[in-house]
Amino acid sequence: MARAANGGDVVHRVAQRDALPGTRPAGSKDEREAGQQVREMFGRIAPRYDFLNHFLSASFDKLWRKRVARRFSAILQNPSVRVLDLCCGTGDLVFSFAKEARKSRGAAPELLGADFALPMLELARQKNAATQGKVAFLGGDALALPFADSKFDLVSVAFGFRNLANYQGGLREMRRVLRPGGALAILEFCEPERGLLAALYRFYFVRILPKIGGAISGSGEAYSYLPGSVAKFPRPEILKGWMEQAGFKDVKYERWTFGAVALHTAVR
Ligand SMILES: C[S@@+](CC[C@H](N)C(=O)[O-])C[C@H]1O[C@@H](n2cnc3c(N)ncnc32)[C@H](O)[C@@H]1O
Repeated sequence: MARAANGGDVVHRVAQRDALPGTRPAGSKDEREAGQQVREMFGRIAPRYDFLNHFLSASFDKLWRKRVARRFSAILQNPSVRVLDLCCGTGDLVFSFAKEARKSRGAAPELLGADFALPMLELARQKNAATQGKVAFLGGDALALPFADSKFDLVSVAFGFRNLANYQGGLREMRRVLRPGGALAILEFCEPERGLLAALYRFYFVRILPKIGGAISGSGEAYSYLPGSVAKFPRPEILKGWMEQAGFKDVKYERWTFGAVALHTAVR
């Protein structure tokens, strides 16, 4: 069992095909407690979440989400599709999708964001109302989605998958709600690759970011959880294998920004 920087435990049983792990924030004993802690943690940092995201990433986060939206441009510009953004937080990925969809000047697809931290969703709804947006937001646990099988053409998750208390359960649910031939996108942080810039990034991510994030959000624990959980999260190659194990086809990934984030894509 690996010990996280903040004292949390994350079990990586990568060799055991049927026992995929999930996050375990400090003090959580099991999947239920882990989910509850994650939900409460994001609920607490919600008011400062957007500001800190942009500030701490020097607005790279905006670029990453835009890049994901561009990647799925063809789907997003089709008015007859349904798109689900899981762990949507304050909605920034699904808002990037809406922007990409508007480029076609035609009718928009059905865009839905779901998250289990209600304060995050409340902010997403406010942002949506302020822009006369057409996105629907609803409360939902990614491990027990309130949707029928095969409902969506695209399912996405940005910086949320790593926080699931059961990775295998998350992949199973994503696959269940995707129609056959539908697309999956997982954008997630990862440990940067080698090199000076990567080393500098790592220093910033592990030493500086938790201090600034903790001071501004008032939740030191949330911003030490971030680098701790990224360090424990498996490398992109392993996640790719899990996605294949879960039954996804055409699984690919690419790393961006010195390897600090990875986009995994797949087809059901
Ligand atoms: C780091 S935030 C990412 C938010 C957003 N996707 C973004 O790009 O900024 C992670 C989000 O995942 C949500 N989350 C974690 N586990 C979840 C679960 N099991 N079901 C639904 N949402 C979950 C949290 O509530 C939080 O809003």
